[in-house]
Amino acid sequence: MAKKVKTIGVLTSGGDAPGMNAAIRAVVRTAIHEGLKVKGIMRGYAGLLQEEIVDMDSTSVSDIIHRGGTILYTARCQEFTTPEGQELGAEICRKHGIDGIVVIGGDGSYRGAGKLSALGINTVGVPGTIDLDIACTDYTIGFDTAVNTAMEAIDKVRDTSTSHERCSIIEVMGRRAGYIALWCGFANGAEEILLPERYDGDEQAIINRIIENRKRGKKHNIIINAEGIGHSASMARRIEAATGIETRATILGHMQRGGSPTCKDRVYASIMGAKAALLLAEGKSNRVVAYRNGQYVDLDIQEALNMTKDIPEDQYEISKMLIR
Ligand code: ADP
Ligand code: F6P
Repeated sequence: MAKKVKTIGVLTSGGDAPGMNAAIRAVVRTAIHEGLKVKGIMRGYAGLLQEEIVDMDSTSVSDIIHRGGTILYTARCQEFTTPEGQELGAEICRKHGIDGIVVIGGDGSYRGAGKLSALGINTVGVPGTIDLDIACTDYTIGFDTAVNTAMEAIDKVRDTSTSHERCSIIEVMGRRAGYIALWCGFANGAEEILLPERYDGDEQAIINRIIENRKRGKKHNIIINAEGIGHSASMARRIEAATGIETRATILGHMQRGGSPTCKDRVYASIMGAKAALLLAEGKSNRVVAYRNGQYVDLDIQEALNMTKDIPEDQYEISKMLIR
C-alpha cells in the first residue's frame, strides 16, 4: 500500500537552468493544493546534508516565475554520492518529517534521487538542464531559453565577423552532448556545426571549406563548436595560420545558463513541477517526469537512467544539407 505523504521537500541540483523557478513554484502550489506541507531544501544535496531546510508557502514562490536561476540555489555534492552521505540524507529527511522529495536536475541528480528512494524517502525527478542530455525525455527545463540566448549572441558575433571578413568559432555549452550546438547551427545558419557525437577531427576538411567559401565570396564563416569538443582557441589559431583569414574564438560560457526563461520553459516547467507534486501526493516514488512524443509521462528512475539517446541522424543530415 502506498505510504501516506504529508510533507514534501523540493530541491534543485547540478547546473542551474532557466525555468527551475517555475518548476519550484508549481511544486509548492500544487502540493499546497493537495493538502501537503512543503519544505525547500537549499543548495541541492549539499544543503540537505547541512540541514538547510526552510518552510515554504504559496507566497515563498511569488514573483519568481520570470526569473532565471533557482531561488533554492544549487550545488554539486560529492558526499552524497557515498552510501554514508545517502543514509545521512534519508535520516535528515525523517528528522524533518519529509516523506517525499522532488529533485529538479539532470541524470546525476536522478541517481541521488534513486538512492533516497531505496532508503524509504519517496522521490520524483524533474528534468532540469540546459544540455537536453537526459535520455528519457524530449524536453529538459532550460534548453529552450539557453538556445535562444546562444542564438542571439551568435547573431551578434556574426555581425562583427562579417564586417571584419573573419572566421568565427563560437563554443556553446552542452557538456558531452551536442544539442545546443545543433540547434544553434540550424538557427544561426552556421557554415560548420561540430558535434561531439559526430565530429571526426578532420580539421583539414574544415580549412578547405573555409578557403572555398572565401573564393565564392562569403564574408563570414561561422563555426559552432560544442563544448564537448572544446579547444576553440587553439583551433582558431590553426585555422588562421592555414587559411590566412583572421579567426577569432568566442566561448559563450555561463551566459547560456542565465536570463529570464522563455514562455516554453515557464509552461513546461510548471506542468512538470505540478505533475511531480501530484505523483508524490498519490504516494508514488522512484519516478521521473518526462516529455515523450508530445505527452507528459512518468517513468521508473532506473528505467530512465538506463535509456540512451543520440542526436537524431535525420536532423544532423538536414543541418549539413542546408550549409552552402
Ligand atoms: P546533473 O544532475 O545536472 O546531471 P551532476 O551530475 O553534477 O548534475 O549531479 C548532481 C549531484 O547529484 C551530484 O553533485 C551528486 O550530489 C548527486 N549525484 C550524482 N551522481 C550520483 C550518484 N551516483 N549517487 C548519488 N548521488 C549522485
Ligand atoms: O550541465 C549544464 C552545464 O552548463 C554544462 O553545459 C557545462 O558543461 C557545465 O554545466 C558547466 O558546469 P559549471 O557551472 O560547474 O562550470
